[in-house]
Amino acid sequence: MSLVSNVGWSIAEDGVDPQRVPQRRLYTGAMMPAIGLGTFGSDHVPGQEVAEAVKGAAAVGYRHFDCAAVYGNERLIGAALQEVMAGGVRREELWVTSKLWNDKHAEADVIPAFMQSLHDLQLDYLDLYLIHWPFPNHHAPGVDVNSRDHNARPYIHAEYMKTWRQLELLVDRGLVRHIGTSNMTIPKLELLLRDARIKPAVNEMELHPHFQQPALFDFVRRHGIEPIGYSPIGSPGRPARDRTPDDTVDIEDPVIVEIAARHGIHPAVVCIKWAVQRGQTPIPFSVKRRNYLANLQGVVSDPLTDDEMKAIAGIDKGCRLIKGQVFLWKENQDWRDLWDEDGVIVQ
Ligand SMILES: NC(=O)c1ccc[n+]([C@@H]2O[C@H](COP(=O)([O-])OP(=O)(O)OC[C@H]3O[C@@H](n4cnc5c(N)ncnc54)[C@H](OP(=O)(O)O)[C@@H]3O)[C@@H](O)[C@H]2O)c1
Repeated sequence: MSLVSNVGWSIAEDGVDPQRVPQRRLYTGAMMPAIGLGTFGSDHVPGQEVAEAVKGAAAVGYRHFDCAAVYGNERLIGAALQEVMAGGVRREELWVTSKLWNDKHAEADVIPAFMQSLHDLQLDYLDLYLIHWPFPNHHAPGVDVNSRDHNARPYIHAEYMKTWRQLELLVDRGLVRHIGTSNMTIPKLELLLRDARIKPAVNEMELHPHFQQPALFDFVRRHGIEPIGYSPIGSPGRPARDRTPDDTVDIEDPVIVEIAARHGIHPAVVCIKWAVQRGQTPIPFSVKRRNYLANLQGVVSDPLTDDEMKAIAGIDKGCRLIKGQVFLWKENQDWRDLWDEDGVIVQ
């Protein structure tokens, strides 16, 4: 399976045939690869390195890429995708996601922000466009945990719907195939499902063995919304603003370590296998070929046993890593206020 292109990009001999990678069927009938490559360099991996990883990952069989304007690397990834397509991968074989950043929620800003991502990614449509966070509160790249947006606000449903209506227009215009949410909660999704003309196809949410979010996971699946799981390995490289002393480490959990030893794989790969078998779509980040290849190979080989799946179901610690403190809107608030833990939208 060697396909040499005139630009130097080619499919790797030791890669995984993309046709073997499990797919998720969305409510539209479209198929989405059940594993994607994350592209957030966590404020320390330069865009060029991430773009190289996109090319390398495509060469070993990835077809799904999770991008966002705020990651600051879409132009470089766009050039990488061009090389991949020049090397013989058809646009229809790719699944490319981008996200609307929080400072572009105003009605007049949404479509220009989308067009900027489309332009940077050098594509003429996207497969999926998400509202990155349900708040217009934002921060500059690289800020610390105490940084706050002075114009920050709580979730205001009427405002969110104005933003959502603009995403619906993008679907109407054929510029994006699916729209979806990210960092949502059940009460917020209930309102969106009530009011949306085009319902979300996916919800991107933090999901790893120590943070399984069973209630939200079940809720979205019950409503025909596919869960995309971010930080599937427990985000060992996350920025300092997303670390607290109480955080637990998935890849050091004895259950994960023991299963890894039994299968002869890295604990990170156990997290990825578990995610795909459970029914979510993980989007692990890596810029190391050995690691992103191992993650992809993990989902096409040697499944976890029922007992192993049960053992991992038992190690949920409710340990949210991406707490979102920088998006808080009042003095002396707790980050839990972002997540509506009592089932009511916190104002
Ligand atoms: N929607 C949102 O709000 C949101 C929030 C956070 C993240 N995301 C998305 O989710 C993606 C993934 O999340 P994440 O980057 O936070 O964390 P993650 O995927 O859980 O962890 C990535 C880290 O794991 C390491 N790793 C990956 N595969 C490995 C392997 N097989 N063996 C050993 N180490 C391995 C990587 O290091 P190496 O590079 O050294 O391999 C990297 O440091 C992001 O890139 C982004 O696209 C979305």
